[in-house]
Amino acid sequence: MQRTCVIYESKYGTTEEIAGAIALVLGPARTCRPEEFTDDLTSFDLFVIGTPIYNGNIAPSVRRFVETNARWLKKKPVALFCTCLNIPKGRSYLAELQDYLGKDVPAVAFGGRLDTAKLDRDDRTALTLYARKTDFVLEDRDLTSMRAVAAFALALREKNECLEGRVPEDELLTGIETFLRSHRTGVLATGHGDRVRATPIDYIYANGMVYIYSEGGEKFAHLIQNPATALAIYNDDTSPEEIRGLQLSGRAEILRPESPGHREALLLRGIDMERLAGFTIEMNVIRITPIKAEYLNAAFKKEGCAIRQVYRFPLKGSRVPLPQMP
Ligand SMILES: Cc1cc2nc3c(=O)[nH]c(=O)nc-3n(C[C@H](O)[C@H](O)[C@H](O)COP(=O)(O)O)c2cc1C
Repeated sequence: MQRTCVIYESKYGTTEEIAGAIALVLGPARTCRPEEFTDDLTSFDLFVIGTPIYNGNIAPSVRRFVETNARWLKKKPVALFCTCLNIPKGRSYLAELQDYLGKDVPAVAFGGRLDTAKLDRDDRTALTLYARKTDFVLEDRDLTSMRAVAAFALALREKNECLEGRVPEDELLTGIETFLRSHRTGVLATGHGDRVRATPIDYIYANGMVYIYSEGGEKFAHLIQNPATALAIYNDDTSPEEIRGLQLSGRAEILRPESPGHREALLLRGIDMERLAGFTIEMNVIRITPIKAEYLNAAFKKEGCAIRQVYRFPLKGSRVPLPQMP
């Protein structure tokens, strides 16, 4: 597994909170301040460096850290972030660190927080003087956005996923499809707004799609508003030698009795027109087009590959369609 080290400075806690959130998304990870950094951490795979902006400057401890360690850091994937109140100007503060590490190192400015009650005397004086000279108003602000932080961390995660020991694409897809076909049950996650649902379901995997059959229920309240789904399929054995599990992100379509493809989908389940005529209630189908598979398989390790592999399915349209009914 890729390991991430998040190095940060923080006087009032905002940058620390954001560093912690980034570490959660990028984990397995470790957070530390520059003075806590030890040589054994240089073996980590990804480095994220975060600094607050004080009086138009990055934190001196972060500058020193980058200056001192630039040689080996340049050979590793690195990303930078700052927290500040002037977000549009934020990234320019990080240019100084990019001078050491390379202009193409990703850098992002996150909104910070100012809690005037917490300011120490020097900072209060500095900001009071600054407010007198400019149109800056010294008052509490909270510009933090965990949404922006999560998006940044997820993008980094996806970018670095492909650096690991990869299983060849064809072999990976075959493994994923075999796993899908050799199971029949999983947990379907659906959601919208502040509601989420994890429904144990039976499924069929055929023609590159997942088919779930349902008379109705709360999951549809989500799906009619948000077609994004995740399906978890796993073996019960969680020992490190045997662990196997798949998380399939996809887009769901609801096939009602009048929808094209409904009859063909029911046939996959062995329900033909004659049998269907005997049903008093309607049978609906959730057809999921896979977008991304995250496949954990301990066997990959024996081949010298990472046990967690990510596969992105080709866009819909390039898949083999279901044969149409006469
Ligand atoms: C003394 C002081 C000076 C600051 N100067 C700037 C600044 O020049 N530009 C800016 O955008 N934000 C500035 N800020 C806002 C901080 O960057 C923001 O509050 C940050 O989230 C603080 O991080 P921390 O909580 O990790 O210490 C300043 C804050 C303080 C306390």
